[in-house]
Amino acid sequence: MKKILLIVMCLCLVACAKTKEEDTEAPELKLKSSRVRVGLNSDIDYLAFIDKAIDEVDGELIDEVKYNEIDVSKVGQSIVTYTLKDQADNETAQKLIVDVVEYYDGGIFSPLDVEADTVESADDVTVLINKMHQIPKGWTPDDLEPVLDNPSQMLRKEANEAYTRFYNDAKSKGIVLYSISGYRTNDLQTKYWNNMVKVYGEEYASQYSAYPGRSEHQLGLAMDVSYKTTGDRLSESVAQSDIGKFIVSDGYKYGFILRYPQDKVAITNYGYEPWHIRYVGVDLATQLHEQGITLEEYYND
Ligand code: DAL
Ligand code: ZN
Repeated sequence: MKKILLIVMCLCLVACAKTKEEDTEAPELKLKSSRVRVGLNSDIDYLAFIDKAIDEVDGELIDEVKYNEIDVSKVGQSIVTYTLKDQADNETAQKLIVDVVEYYDGGIFSPLDVEADTVESADDVTVLINKMHQIPKGWTPDDLEPVLDNPSQMLRKEANEAYTRFYNDAKSKGIVLYSISGYRTNDLQTKYWNNMVKVYGEEYASQYSAYPGRSEHQLGLAMDVSYKTTGDRLSESVAQSDIGKFIVSDGYKYGFILRYPQDKVAITNYGYEPWHIRYVGVDLATQLHEQGITLEEYYND
């Protein structure tokens, strides 16, 4: 009985297995992501960007993958084309966009080193805006409202309702928040960026100011919160204050995240800003808080 079973299995294997001649399907070549960043003059491990290189007949083919090398001696964008052939000459190809950037200390780079792509959903309160993803040109929020503690500053309606609850609950605990900077037009963000570059240089500006079109403040969903005193209110001292502590401990319950934490500088690509809160809605804020991750990590982007 065992013998018959073995013969049947062997026959089936012979009948089922494809030969090289019958192999008409291209191998599978999958990249981990379609766009990556590398440092100026860095060594690139090209194969590290590949997730899968496999053929149904030939099996694992990572060693057969061919690719062009790019020039890492200058900042800018290049394309790496990966190709993979199986033994039957079926070929597949994948393109990887590589941005060569000059990293400053801490892993921050200048927004001028990269071209940002444009998001489709600037209306979505969970949208990711950063050095790589910009707001569509001309887009502006249509439901801005002044915030309760400083009528010269605005947030979108949903974010403002959340901010009002956040502000009032903080106040009931003896913590008085003050809205320093909320919604910004593209012109205002341009003014801030240009001024910071002029006064402190591009490296410093790349840490603390977004390039026009790439600031969350233009979404009407971000607020810089500090004390209502004069002097340098946007400093790291905010972190040690009741305000900074309340943002970290309770912000998520109202839908706000601390967008640029101290231990995530190389991920957000901005310096530590204990004053900058971003509204993403309670569900997402709670998830990010519980997992201890940034928006970049959430979107794996
Ligand atoms: N300070 C943040 C990065 C901004 O300008 O949007
Ligand atoms: Zn800010």
